[in-house]
Amino acid sequence: MLIKIDDLLSHNEMTQASALLARAAWSSGLATAGPQAARVKNNQQLADDAPQFPALRRLVLAALDRSALFFSATLPRKILPPFFNRYTGRTNVYGFHVDNAVRQYDGGHLVRADISATLFLNDPADYDGGELIVEDTFGTHAVKLAAGSLVIYPSSSIHAVSPVTRGERIACFMFIQSMVRDVGQRRILYDMDMALLRLRQDFGEIDAVIRLTATYHNLLRQWAEL
Ligand code: NI
Repeated sequence: MLIKIDDLLSHNEMTQASALLARAAWSSGLATAGPQAARVKNNQQLADDAPQFPALRRLVLAALDRSALFFSATLPRKILPPFFNRYTGRTNVYGFHVDNAVRQYDGGHLVRADISATLFLNDPADYDGGELIVEDTFGTHAVKLAAGSLVIYPSSSIHAVSPVTRGERIACFMFIQSMVRDVGQRRILYDMDMALLRLRQDFGEIDAVIRLTATYHNLLRQWAEL
């Protein structure tokens, strides 16, 4: 399930993020790649000790925190703090790979990557190429979004970033451990939540909406791991 969330960052946040990123120093993207990914990864990453890192992370995590759509689509239990990357010049591509299933951060915390997310951080008109290519059971998707928009997809998917042939592509990526590990179960809950939203808008809190909401929560109760 590939879901796009438009305008996750507000205009104001996007301006702040751009200003922070403009002053940032970039280093090799190999720092967070496993051995297989390292063979195909050729990009740049914001260094761990970059002074802009904490403010950028706070900004992105606050935006995720207030997004009802992000919550519904991911049912987050843990979020690996975001990383920032740049594709340009000779460091402009990330070939097909799969993200590691388990990630470690802050000296020992573990996150199981159920969902991968990419937040696009500059105007797609500023670069050619740089599509996020995601393979799923319904075929291959090429995604390139407006600055401040997010895409999420199952971490089990094989994916790549196509070569950037002009300009630079700046993005942020992160991994989410969901309360609901199974992608099929997450899909059912997401579809149901979206349908309930529309029913509530069209009919208000009628008896059937209350009962279906109870069913949503009862499914979540069955499936959630806390
Ligand atoms: Ni990846």
